[in-house]
Amino acid sequence: MFGAIVVKVKLTEKLDSDILVVGFGMVNKKLKIEPGLSQIDTSALLATLTAIGATGKADEVIKLPGKNCKVIVFTGLGELTDTLSTETLRRAAGAAAATLAGNASACFALPHKSVVEISAIAEGAALGAYSFNEFKGATKDESKKALTLVSLLTKFSKTDPAKAVARRAEIIAEQTHLVRDLVNTPPSHLTPNSFSQRVKKLASKYGVKVEIFNQAVLKKGGYGGIIGVGQGSANPPCLLHLSYKPKKVIKRFAFVGKGITFDTGGLALKPATGMEQMKADMSGAAAVVAAIFAVAQLKLPIALDCWAPLAENMVSDTATRPSDVINIYGGKSVEVLNPDAEGRLILADALVKAAEVGKKAGGLDALVDVATLTGAQVVALGSRTSAVMTNDDELCNQFLTATSISGEQFWPMPLPIELRASLDSPIADIANIGDRMGGMLVAGLFLKEFVDPQTPWLHLDIAGPAFNSTKAHGYTPVGGTGVALRSLVCLAELAVSHP
Ligand code: BES
Ligand code: MN
Ligand code: ZN
Repeated sequence: MFGAIVVKVKLTEKLDSDILVVGFGMVNKKLKIEPGLSQIDTSALLATLTAIGATGKADEVIKLPGKNCKVIVFTGLGELTDTLSTETLRRAAGAAAATLAGNASACFALPHKSVVEISAIAEGAALGAYSFNEFKGATKDESKKALTLVSLLTKFSKTDPAKAVARRAEIIAEQTHLVRDLVNTPPSHLTPNSFSQRVKKLASKYGVKVEIFNQAVLKKGGYGGIIGVGQGSANPPCLLHLSYKPKKVIKRFAFVGKGITFDTGGLALKPATGMEQMKADMSGAAAVVAAIFAVAQLKLPIALDCWAPLAENMVSDTATRPSDVINIYGGKSVEVLNPDAEGRLILADALVKAAEVGKKAGGLDALVDVATLTGAQVVALGSRTSAVMTNDDELCNQFLTATSISGEQFWPMPLPIELRASLDSPIADIANIGDRMGGMLVAGLFLKEFVDPQTPWLHLDIAGPAFNSTKAHGYTPVGGTGVALRSLVCLAELAVSHP
């Protein structure tokens, strides 16, 4: 129940499983198998694949019986170029792994020339090895259990860099699976309290310190955003604070994640169709929590604080009314014109607090918030590309470099100053909604009001990519995806390698 599925990743020089995974794709419109180090006899297999109309496109996975193993799994690499992108390899490995639920292990022989490519294959395979059976009958579970052992066929198996990336892939997958588990857990079983208790148990395992601000503490402390959003629910809100302090500190970061365990829209009630997806409205909180765990497991010399404001946005006679005025931590007043624009309210409290604590510790090198913040994000970029907004182009560029390594799709978006006036309120310092057009940017501008201009800040809107409501692809399952975790970890790693 607590703690996600752990996938082991090992390196090998000879086939060590009943299941062998190899790549295939197209060269000059002809199908080609990439056997890697597997030593399979490709000609007969190629004839069979061609006969059944295989194309080798991305996300095509075909299983055939093998000679020195039970099953050969062919996973599509698309157009075969001299060097395949790491993300192509990651997705192909993941697509294969995802079809292997019910098996204990598989041996991956995808083509690679470097440790960077091994890293991508290991990550993809481990990320694809996911299933969520928590709420299914016990008898169904066994056949649906995801792979627990991934072995990679590589001539680099004895080298330290290869061993390091294999271990890193285990960590990335373990924490991505934690995010997915938390997102997939229904709101009946994931409240602000149970979220923080689950995280608290895990934190001790990873050597991360935990502090939980309960409703009474938040009220007394003046956290009007979290209190206001949570006051309509029988499940009280809280603020979860995790902190990781390594002995050697190169940089100090703070991550803040939106943790709405369910978003009904409050008194601006959402339509019933699609409301069920609002169980994923805590994806930002899950991502930042898992990111600090990964950073701790990787023992990076980055001091990191993680803040997850948690609340349930419900409808009741104690819920915030449109036109209510609340005070964010630090004192700024907000006229809540729309209780469905709740994420920015809880984030405002947490951003101010994160900066205050960061300042006391010597100042933040980066403050990053992660949130399923706006429907406008999905309209603008679709369901697979997230947005990044910033007050610091250098940090943003560093982050975009991190995403090119992680393979997550993020696109920079502006914070146009002329949209700011639409958030003016006649009675409070600011209103919680402004222009509907450019709604993602307006939400970013609202958050910007709660960030000191001297603090390098990133705002990640992951509203679309956090939850996959269609079908599995690459290493991405249906349901919670775990997006943002990998890029946050890469950002921390970059701060160490390129300070
Ligand atoms: N959690 C939603 C945003 C969202 C929408 C996430 C779709 C994932 C998929 C957020 O709290 C919300 O309701 N935002 C409103 C803001 C509006 C009232 C200004 C929205 O985007 O409609
Ligand atoms: Mn909402
Ligand atoms: Zn929301």
